[in-house]
Amino acid sequence: MLLNASGCLDALTAPDVARSLDAFVTKTVTPLPREGNAPARIAETDVGMLNAIGLANPGIDRFLTRNLPQLEKLGVPFWVSVGGFQTDDYADICSRLDDHAVVSAIELNVSCPNVEAPVESATQIVAAARLATRKPLWAKLSPAAPDVGEVAQAAQAAGVDGLSLINTLRGLKLDARTLRPALGPGQGGLSGPALKPIALAAVASCYRATGMPIVGMGGIQTGLDALEFIAAGAQHVALGTVLFADPDAPARIRMELHAAAAEHGWNSYDDAYAVAHEESLSLRTT
Ligand SMILES: Cc1cc2nc3c(=O)[nH]c(=O)nc-3n(C[C@H](O)[C@H](O)[C@H](O)COP(=O)(O)O)c2cc1C
Repeated sequence: MLLNASGCLDALTAPDVARSLDAFVTKTVTPLPREGNAPARIAETDVGMLNAIGLANPGIDRFLTRNLPQLEKLGVPFWVSVGGFQTDDYADICSRLDDHAVVSAIELNVSCPNVEAPVESATQIVAAARLATRKPLWAKLSPAAPDVGEVAQAAQAAGVDGLSLINTLRGLKLDARTLRPALGPGQGGLSGPALKPIALAAVASCYRATGMPIVGMGGIQTGLDALEFIAAGAQHVALGTVLFADPDAPARIRMELHAAAAEHGWNSYDDAYAVAHEESLSLRTT
């Protein structure tokens, strides 16, 4: 499946882009509305984009009454990304989403670098969310953990159905003239091409550690990039930063992916995925 990365596409203002995906992933929804951070919230760097949006979102009440019916009308299956500051936040939102048949899956954002409050451990969050919903649960992990494969195993043991890899990594851009941070809050999350090698390593490590379904993302700009993620162990891929520059990226990347797989003589992406199965025992982190 081809998805968008959470926070990188507004399906309601760009419905055709959303319809060009196999499923749409919402921006992270939190218990209460959030205004987000003071501007500037986005800055370009030589190797990708820095953002410090600060999880601006309408909050779960308004999301359910206003956004959900509009998303339903789009006719695209959608996943809801869920965030919070303590375990109960995640469990509460999951139990409220559980009643809505239209929600295909829930992605637990346990990895946003732009929120200040500490979150409890990913494992606790997954375990509580698992009790709160029967919907497919995906845990979105950060590659910043010393051993992301170990975190993935813990999430698997706590009842997650799949993994989304990776979220942004913390970065800082200084304005060349003033030498002050370019972003309002100072630091932000780095996305785009710089993430790709880090994301591929995280996908390969988590695939080896768990064998679970993975949504791979981080710097995907072409079909060949997407194929690399599949060969590393991702069953699905998601497009993030590329959508800001090229809203037609889903259709283009699908075509390029098809062509790149055909060049290898692969008739389906399952053949590419098989590379991860074959290599999974021999991939090494060093
Ligand atoms: C502007 C922006 C907003 C984002 N908001 C969210 C978010 O709300 N929740 C989330 O889990 N990830 C969020 N992300 C991270 C992306 O979903 C994705 O994990 C990351 O950007 C890596 O993919 P990319 O390099 O293709 O952009 C955001 C990224 C960007 C650039």
